[in-house]
Amino acid sequence: MTDLLGGLGQLPKEQRPLVGKSANEIKVALEAALQERQEAIAQDEMSRALSAEGVDVTLPGRRPIVGKYHPTTTTMREIVDIFNLMGFQVYDAPEVETDENNFELLNFPPDHPAREMQDTFFTTSPDVILRTHTSPGQIRAMREFAPQPIRVILPGKCYRNEDVTARHEMMFYQVEGLAIGRNVAFSDLKGVLLNFFNQMYGEGRKIRFRKSYFPFTEPSVEVDVDCILCGAQGCRMCKYSGWLEILGAGMVHPVVLKNGGYDPAEFSGFAFGMGIERQAILKRGIDDIRYFYDNDVRFLERVA
Ligand code: PHE
Repeated sequence: MTDLLGGLGQLPKEQRPLVGKSANEIKVALEAALQERQEAIAQDEMSRALSAEGVDVTLPGRRPIVGKYHPTTTTMREIVDIFNLMGFQVYDAPEVETDENNFELLNFPPDHPAREMQDTFFTTSPDVILRTHTSPGQIRAMREFAPQPIRVILPGKCYRNEDVTARHEMMFYQVEGLAIGRNVAFSDLKGVLLNFFNQMYGEGRKIRFRKSYFPFTEPSVEVDVDCILCGAQGCRMCKYSGWLEILGAGMVHPVVLKNGGYDPAEFSGFAFGMGIERQAILKRGIDDIRYFYDNDVRFLERVA
């Protein structure tokens, strides 16, 4: 077209308008055809993309997987929060302990038969064991704070060389509580525990003390709460007794007070210890302690 229009000058004068006009018409027609084709290609491209890359906004979304706390952690924090409000401070004590703290200073003499109650994991060092309960933390807390009055709770892992069953694990958690002062009485223990149970399991709880034995407390008791699962009507969990065994407790033994640095003539105290998984089992309706540390995410996702 450019050549043609450029060559117009060589044509005889009378032909020029005619040829110029036709050339112009052709040019316009070509440009229109080109534009039409470009639009058609763009249109095709658009509808191809729309059908290939289309998003169906009516489809349900994919739920992102959000991590959550382990039921032991949640339960431990619930327990700790309740005791915090009663003025108990968390005291951290190690899981690897000396035989002295775990037994000796808690008034378990060597070869005392009460040691048999705790199937201990030993290490190659004769004095170093995995703690069998959180009670050795009592000694550490007392020795750090004596002769000041104290109110502490000690949450953490414990180990016992036990056959693993629905009710027993080799590794489990406890929370220990310890209060020492000049006028700490058994009724204080009772009040603190009743308050704890009312906050943990709902108002109106009844508790029951049964005489028991621990070398480090005198007197010693086991504390039951009315069965929260059946309303004390009797069920599998409470073994048809209407009562759930929750914890061990007692007044700190004078020998232990002395080992901790307190004069038993001047100071008295109470202590208690409970299994955390047991509380999680009761509160969250879990029926087997082995689920806790199997790391099966289906369990961990399901349990609140
Ligand atoms: N340490 C005891 C146990 O593991 C529980 C306990 C703690 C009892 C404190 C009395 C006082 O069985």
